[in-house]
Amino acid sequence: AKYTWVEKDTCIACGACGATAPDIYDYDDEGLAEVIYSNDGNKGNTEIPEDLYDDLQDASDGCPTDSIKIADEPFNM
Ligand code: F3S
Repeated sequence: AKYTWVEKDTCIACGACGATAPDIYDYDDEGLAEVIYSNDGNKGNTEIPEDLYDDLQDASDGCPTDSIKIADEPFNM
């Protein structure tokens, strides 16, 4: 299983992740990214389905500040 959340402290609102993986990431009022998949609320507790794994990896690879965190277990942020 895969889980993800965005470290907003280091996100620079570049906008790449939401363009790459719009089903997983969107932006808050300040333009900082957050996980919106299945109303996760950027807590990293929602299992990302396998058909989004490619988007997940592409978004992580494309983030200039490595703010997209991915793990095999829930983050419980
Ligand atoms: Fe922020 Fe990285 Fe997305 S800088 S907007 S988390 S690509």
